[in-house]
Amino acid sequence: MASYRLTVNGAPREVDAWDGDMPLLYALRNTLGLHAAKFGCGLGQCGACTVLLDGSPVRSCLLKLSDAAGHAITTNEGLGTPEKPHPVQAAFIAEQAAQCGYCTNGMVMTSVALLQRTPRPTREQAQAALGGNLCRCGSQDRVLKAIARASGQGEA
Ligand code: FES
Ligand code: FES
Repeated sequence: MASYRLTVNGAPREVDAWDGDMPLLYALRNTLGLHAAKFGCGLGQCGACTVLLDGSPVRSCLLKLSDAAGHAITTNEGLGTPEKPHPVQAAFIAEQAAQCGYCTNGMVMTSVALLQRTPRPTREQAQAALGGNLCRCGSQDRVLKAIARASGQGEA
């Protein structure tokens, strides 16, 4: 058993694990009780498990706990609260950009990272950024509208 130190949503956290190869996603969901990141494919192919690692979107189902140690992890829970949502979260709510919601975590986290590096993305830039985030329900168009809204290019 070893201890791994992470910074999660701005707070120092320690996770004990038998195997540092354990996916960060398991530590977030099963040890730290942060359930926003979802287990979709477990293979890095759907994006449902996306979190930010030092500000960049990563697939937490593929990231080893040992490789996450020492880094700053941001999950959807760390962006905002129901009372005071992050602008991207608020835009997703306003545009009702989810049906089942399984992909929504990854869509939001990827959108936050996109807007940090490109504050006013074109529709094509947003589509490209979300290329690795799969939605089985057909919410992509509403997600693009939410990004436009959050970047001040859609309905206020
Ligand atoms: Fe991680 Fe699908 S669960 S990419
Ligand atoms: Fe269901 Fe995207 S809203 S998978």
